[in-house]
Amino acid sequence: MNASNTARAYGWVARFFHWTVAALILAAIALGLYAGSLPKGGEAQLQAIFQTYSVHKTVGVTALTLAVLRILWTLTQKKPLPLHPGRRLEGFVAETVHWGLWIGMIIMPISGWLLHSAAPGGFARILWPFGQRLPMVPEDAALAERFAAFHKLGWLLLGGLILLHILGALKHVIIDRDGTLSRMAGNPGRAPEPPTATAGVLPHLLAALAGIAIWAGAALTIAAAPTKDGENIPASAPQAAATSGWAVQQGTLNIEATQAGSTVSGRFDQWQAVIDYDPESQTGRVVVNVDIASLTLGAVSDTAKGPDFLNAAAHPNAVFEADILPATSAGPSHIARGRLTIAGHAVETDLPFELTVNGDKAQAKGSLQVDRRDFGIGTSYGDESTVGFGVNISFDLTAKRQ
Ligand code: HEM
Ligand code: HEM
Repeated sequence: MNASNTARAYGWVARFFHWTVAALILAAIALGLYAGSLPKGGEAQLQAIFQTYSVHKTVGVTALTLAVLRILWTLTQKKPLPLHPGRRLEGFVAETVHWGLWIGMIIMPISGWLLHSAAPGGFARILWPFGQRLPMVPEDAALAERFAAFHKLGWLLLGGLILLHILGALKHVIIDRDGTLSRMAGNPGRAPEPPTATAGVLPHLLAALAGIAIWAGAALTIAAAPTKDGENIPASAPQAAATSGWAVQQGTLNIEATQAGSTVSGRFDQWQAVIDYDPESQTGRVVVNVDIASLTLGAVSDTAKGPDFLNAAAHPNAVFEADILPATSAGPSHIARGRLTIAGHAVETDLPFELTVNGDKAQAKGSLQVDRRDFGIGTSYGDESTVGFGVNISFDLTAKRQ
């Protein structure tokens, strides 16, 4: 079994890369569409959406890694010769589609990763121990929306190219019966020796340019589309937010705890809020999903996420599901009244917050003091000498009406 390609067939390394990358890309498309089709609403449904996107992103990043390795390998390899060098147009179309696929297998996961990085608050983690946000990509709803638009157009393009590619392969099996598929399927014995005539460099160059033009066209279409100044939902939870009424543009979610008498401050980098709010009645509903693993808390980040405290492995998300009501007493203008679930323990909670609505923009800011013991957190730290009981949770966000 040859590791390297020959003039007659692909070696096993090229075949391994072809079929694993193909399977991962098809799985990513299926998972992306499935995640978008899931029902939205309550806490359990949101969790299902987040988890599906997490798997989608992980599959996509894995495909990207293998695709890069595949390209590096291909650069060292000769290409099996065409079986029908005389069929110029067919060869040109097949090669153009191959170029489109090469570019698509890189550009699609990268556009997804860019959109994941730019989305304010993030939401569904990549299930990898490293590499969440890409460096130098600012958190910006409008930018995330652009990447999302490209990602959505891109999958249609990539899907179309894959379809053409598969139809081409089927044509070779059903009509030509020429063993082209066997060269990639690992049965080179069934592939005939190709003729040695070569077509020169020009047709290859044209096919490469045509493949690049397809993707450049998609990028230009998105770049030329009118900006909506981030009006659309942040790409992070598009479907969930589509029905929400208000989309978070920018926001922070901070916590403060006391350790050995001193205050330690930290923040969650990945969270998502689905907000429904009617300024007339001043009422609404909010569901916030927080990714516990995204917590940074000074030098004790890992301890805080470990089994003695938030136990991110067993309880990856904290959720706050609440009704928004106008406040009846002095102080902040509103209250979010509902259920806060941390580390698997649900507690009825009132979160007072100040809300200022200015046309289509809203700013909300509030904080809440919780007792870690109510959530069964740090039970082995029975007094406050090491870790205080009180933990302050605060948020500050701006949102835009959809
Ligand atoms: C699932 C059905 C698929 C089938 C039946 C299939 C079949 C084939 C065959 C038979 C070849 C060899 C063509 C030749 O020798 O000229 C090939 C090459 C290729 N396929 Fe696929 N493929 C499939 C899916 C995919 C997917 C999903 C991708 C990527 C998104 C892909 C990317 C490529 C590329 C880039 C080449 C050129 C490889 C090279 O020249 O090194 N294929 N495919
Ligand atoms: C092989 C690579 C990938 C393919 C083929 C792919 C395909 C898709 C598809 C088909 C959708 C659904 C689009 C729709 O509902 O119209 C989607 C959505 C999404 N993907 Fe990917 N994806 C890939 C990689 C990634 C990666 C690596 C990430 C992030 C790290 C990512 C993040 C997302 C997000 C956040 C959405 C929701 C976008 C929105 O609706 O605004 N994707 N993707």
